[in-house]
Amino acid sequence: SIVILDFGSQYNQLIARRVREMGVYAEVVPYFEDIEKIKEREPNGIILSGGPASVYLDDAPTIDKEIYELGIPVLGICYGMQLTMHLLGGKVAKADKQEFGKAELLIDDKKNPFFDCVPDQSQVWMSHGDHVTEIAKGFEKIAHTDSSIAVVCDTNRNFYCVQFHPEVTHSVYGKQMLENFVFNVAKCEKNWSMGNYIESTVEEIREKVGDRKVILALSGGVDSSVAAVLIHKAIGDQLSCFFVDTGLMRKDEAKKVMETYGEHYNINIECIDAEDRFLSKLAGVSDPEEKRKIIGNEFIYIFEDQKKRFKDADFLAQGTIYPDVIESQSVKGPSATIKSHHNVGGLPEEMKFELLEPLRELFKDEVRQVGRELGIPDHMIDRHPFPGPGLGIRILGEVTREKADILREADDIFIEELRNEGLYSKVSQAFVVLLPVKSVGVMGDERTYEYTAVLRSADTTDFMTATWSRLPYDFLEKVSNRIINEVKGINRMTYDISSKPPATIEWE
Ligand code: XMP
Repeated sequence: SIVILDFGSQYNQLIARRVREMGVYAEVVPYFEDIEKIKEREPNGIILSGGPASVYLDDAPTIDKEIYELGIPVLGICYGMQLTMHLLGGKVAKADKQEFGKAELLIDDKKNPFFDCVPDQSQVWMSHGDHVTEIAKGFEKIAHTDSSIAVVCDTNRNFYCVQFHPEVTHSVYGKQMLENFVFNVAKCEKNWSMGNYIESTVEEIREKVGDRKVILALSGGVDSSVAAVLIHKAIGDQLSCFFVDTGLMRKDEAKKVMETYGEHYNINIECIDAEDRFLSKLAGVSDPEEKRKIIGNEFIYIFEDQKKRFKDADFLAQGTIYPDVIESQSVKGPSATIKSHHNVGGLPEEMKFELLEPLRELFKDEVRQVGRELGIPDHMIDRHPFPGPGLGIRILGEVTREKADILREADDIFIEELRNEGLYSKVSQAFVVLLPVKSVGVMGDERTYEYTAVLRSADTTDFMTATWSRLPYDFLEKVSNRIINEVKGINRMTYDISSKPPATIEWE
């Protein structure tokens, strides 16, 4: 296995993911992890990650030098390189000009096993303000760029250091070099898969929870569902779940969730009918932020009720995944509130639960793999994301039960047609938005005066930027006809062709 010591770079979990993709277990731990604990893991290799600090400052994060005496191969990346040079007798200084972005890597030692299958010249991704000015004793330079020492190594001790970021895709042969470190240098074996992950996580959950109890709010989304099934596999009936029917869920959502998780998996799950609560609080409110706050607060009240009911539960389980961890870290920054996102994560402090977050290290597609491995049906696993406030932010203006019913029907038709045409998994997120706008139409010989709805479909990899999906005209026509003919209350359909930015994916 590989242990990654985390010095705070935003790319760290990506390193773990790249290594896991190779079939080798990798785990990220903080840089100050006790060295005894690192030894207990018996890693084949240690990777020191990048990070924002400067090694020559007094409070710079550092490690026990004993790491270099364990006989374990080490790969230092960016800050990890600078720290290694600094600790082992080399010199690091502020570079005259920051190197940021693409650079050309030129290999000096072409026979080095670190460069197996890597061409003599290739593109790498740099992001650093400091650089190595003097290489530590025992090391030699084996590659460079025109402005920095790019790779050094000590082949006797199996230490390698790279100034660039091999884990990002802009480093075209970065994955190959990581692989070369993992297999050629650290001599890892391929023995890790999602199956192992499930097994070891189930073990960990059992150990952590013992005979205590756990509650989990299952939303029907991928993350909380996979977390529920995984935890249930570990501790069975010690897990109690609840599903909150806010009245703002998709069509038949409660039924599907109860069938899949309650009946099929036999998980203790209760459906809380909170439709009246949510809708009465939302009555008369049309400001988007106010609606979001009302919905978020109502969730918290329901949680408090549940907490009273499950007095003997010690753990609150959540389907937090790695991108949520990053997002909530960056959310603390000074960036402006575009929309007050809510997940059940924003619980008040006085709720004294221990958190159980078995998916914290995984990316979305890894969570889906775990879900498939656990036998969760595809149509529950491949679902598009659904926002916490639900249809509350897809009914523009005031939310009413009548509008929610109309929207549910229309949305269901859009999704059904996307699935029929094999388009559902080609787009990242698709849904219908109901506008508070009525227009005139004609149906048969009758004049109609009904709502306008919008088809929204976005293509994105990270949901930070997105383009509108180029859905075929014939398909749009079919969906439009079906909705207008089958859903009472809508007589006009439009298609949203805005990209993000400047628009957002949701309308509120
Ligand atoms: P926007 O509209 O900001 O949405 O482009 C980006 C992604 O986030 C989802 N979204 C939310 N998810 N709670 C969530 O869990 C929220 O409050 C929320 N608001 C937006 C949105 O569906 C899209 O996938």
